[in-house]
This record gives sequence, C-alpha cells and structure tokens, in this order.
Amino acid sequence: MKQNSVYIETYGCQMNVADTELVQGLLVEKGYSLTQNIDTADVILLNTCSIRDNAEQRIYGRLGNIKAIKDKDPSKVIGILGCMAERLKKDLIEEKKMVDVVVGPDEYRRLPEFIDDAFTGEKGIGVKLSRTETYDDILPYRENGLSAWISVMRGCDKFCSYCVVPFTRGRERSRSLDSIKNEVKLLSQKGFREITLLGQNVNSYSDNGNDFADLLSASAKVDPLMRIRFTTSHPQDLSDKLLYTITENDNICKYIHLPVQSGSNRILELMNRTYTIEHYLNLIEKARKLIPSVSFSTDIISGFPTESEEDHRATLTVMRQVEYDGAYMFKYSPREGTKAYRMNDDVSEEVKTKRLNEIIDLQQSISLTQNQKLIGKQEIILVEGDSRKSSDYLSGRTDSNKVAIFPKQDNIKPGDYVAVKINKVTSATLFGDVI
Ligand code: 5AD
Ligand code: SF4
Repeated sequence: MKQNSVYIETYGCQMNVADTELVQGLLVEKGYSLTQNIDTADVILLNTCSIRDNAEQRIYGRLGNIKAIKDKDPSKVIGILGCMAERLKKDLIEEKKMVDVVVGPDEYRRLPEFIDDAFTGEKGIGVKLSRTETYDDILPYRENGLSAWISVMRGCDKFCSYCVVPFTRGRERSRSLDSIKNEVKLLSQKGFREITLLGQNVNSYSDNGNDFADLLSASAKVDPLMRIRFTTSHPQDLSDKLLYTITENDNICKYIHLPVQSGSNRILELMNRTYTIEHYLNLIEKARKLIPSVSFSTDIISGFPTESEEDHRATLTVMRQVEYDGAYMFKYSPREGTKAYRMNDDVSEEVKTKRLNEIIDLQQSISLTQNQKLIGKQEIILVEGDSRKSSDYLSGRTDSNKVAIFPKQDNIKPGDYVAVKINKVTSATLFGDVI
C-alpha cells in the first residue's frame, strides 16, 4: 500500500512546536511518512495559534493559499490542529469548506483515524478537552539536533483575563516525572545538548508529590553536559525551592522567563495576574541574591482596557528597574470568551501602537546596555554551527540564551562547549574570540 505523506506547518508558541513533534510521532507510527514539500504532500496540516487576532488572520491567509492547492487536487486532505481548531470548532469545516479535519490539542490520538476517514470523503472533528491527556506514552518525532523541547505539562488554570489558553488548551495536568526523565536520557544518548522543559505555567507541575523543582533537578542530573532550560514561570508560583535548585545545578541555565505583563498594579489586577509589582520586584531581587548571574526575560502587553498613560509609564519603569535581557512585547488583542473580552477595548489602535513602540525602543536600549556589560568577559558557548552570515564564523548560545559569533576553528564542532571572550556587541548579538 502506498505510504501517504504528511506536511505540517506550525504556528505560535513552543508548546505548538512540541505538539507538532508529538503528532509527527503518532503519524509515523501509524505508517505515514513526513515531507517538507507541501506540493507533493497527501495530507496538509496546520498547527494553529489563537493567542492574538493577528496570529489567526495570518493563518486564515495561509489557508487561502492552501485552497488553491486543494482546488487543483481535491484528493488532498487538509487539516487544522491546535488552538484555532479548539476555538472555532466546526465553523472551520462549515465556513472553510476545504477543511477536512479539525482536531484540538487533546484529541491528537484520533488524528490518524480522522485522516483515514477523510480519504474516503468523510469530515472529521475532535475538539473535546481532557482533564487527563498528557500523551505521556508517545515519543515525539525529532530530527537529530542539539536542542529539544519537552512538554512536561499541558493546559493552564490561571485564567488571566486576556488569555484564551485555558479555553483552547484546557485544565492543567502534568506528565510523569519518570517518563520525562527517560525522554531526557534518550535525548542525551542521541547527542542532544540542550533541552527546554515546557509548560504554560511550569511552576504548577506536580506528579506524585514531586514539584517542578524536583523535576528540574532530576532532569539536570541525567547528563551534566546537557543544558536545561524551562519556560514559562508565573510570578506568583515561582518558589524559593526552585531558585535553590537552579543555583545548585551547574547545567541549569541561569535564565528565567518571568512575564510581568504590566507595571501597573491596577492593570495587573484587571488582568487577574494575582501578584503586585512589589511582589514581582521582590522576587527578582531574591533571585538575584541567590543566583548572582541570573538574567530575566519577560512578556509585556500594551494597551489593555483602561490602560492610562500613567499605567504605561509604570510598565516602562519596571523594565528599567529589572533590566531584562529580552522581552516579547504585544499589543492587547481581545479574545472572545475571555473575561477581558467583556471590557471595552478602549485604548485606540494608534495609542496601543505608540506605547508598544516605546516599549520596544526601551527594551532595545536595555538589551544593548546589558550586552555591553559583557564586553571583556568570558562566556561559555554551546556551539550550534556556522553563523548565518558567514561560514568563516561559528554561532552558538550563552547560558543566558544570547547568540554569540566567533571565528571558526577546525577543532571546534557543533555540540562543543567553548569559552569565548566577548569583544563587541549589538542589542541582539555578541561577538568574541575563543580563549
Ligand atoms: N493579547 C495580547 N497579548 C496576549 N498574550 C496572551 N494573550 C494575549 C492577548 N489577548 C501574551 C502574554 C503572554 C504571551 C504568551 O502572549 O504576554 O504571556
Ligand atoms: Fe495565559 Fe495566563 Fe495561563 Fe499564561 S498563565 S497561558 S497568560 S492564562
């Protein structure tokens, strides 16, 4: 029998990247082959994101292109996976008549069956959310490489008022510590040098009395040459025990992604973030005391309903106080079904854009200053490969996840750790020489 080939395009967060690998693992096991070529694929899947409206609009645009492929060859199966599948459900099948399969994040086990049915002309839809599904027993499909994502928990119970995630990905649930540890072991044996433990709110990981700090520590002990990263932490749940675990293990990166969202207590309350700015800054201070080399990145939303110029300035102030190494910065986008959706989206597009630009400009100058502090210092770089711009140079990353570029040497290969002395920086990149 002919092996059908599957092409998958992934949008959105790292969780989706990990889910795509999971889906690929499932499909390969059922006899499908994977292809990078959309034109020859028998099955075209989009793993989608709903976090902001512009993500959804981009995916709708892409579906338009894919329609042309389906028009030419109606035997192809088109499927929507992920958050948009969950959010828009059968609308996608009814409105976009070309879509054959719609599968939400908790029903991927049924995907092979839906695809088989679609070849016989039947439409398939699976969008039930689960309180227990963690895909713990499924090994994600991964090309050989240095870095891997491991999803350790699914869903989110935080219900930040702007966020669609609790509705598209359901309630929090954790994988078992043993199976995660085994996955880390397997990746280490395959030559991976860096893993990132993923969850919408990793700090609420829990398995049989083990918390996230226990998981992090167990993962770090598997292979001392493997760098361990994790994301995302919620400022209310990040424990002292976790901070100690980070200091105690050399191979846990001293880097914490700690979304602040806003610098104004009034806005934080409306966002249902459940912490104050004072709590947040205390946490940063405590982390810096315990882990002197720690660096931080963050997420910021500009133009949340009722945000005043004063609230916005409070955000800029917090950014200056913390001196983030990096930030993901967004304009507020109302999402149907969320609590904030019922508030008036009263900050004009123009003001949102102006504030966002101020936030971006400030972060760029902070990143540059932070990087300048590294000039003359030594950083340990995990070598990834040739630099994008020139094959005379190698590129790798620091413990704090910054890209570093340095002249190539024959004895250095991808996966090696090298000490590099930094001699030049931009806001995004470090340059140096091997010492
Ligand atoms: N509008 C803008 N940004 C959002 N985020 C989540 N929901 C929204 C929204 N409705 C941002 C938050 C979150 C990141 C993943 O995306 O900053 O931390
Ligand atoms: Fe969304 Fe908040 Fe959960 Fe993050 S913590 S996924 S922002 S609800």
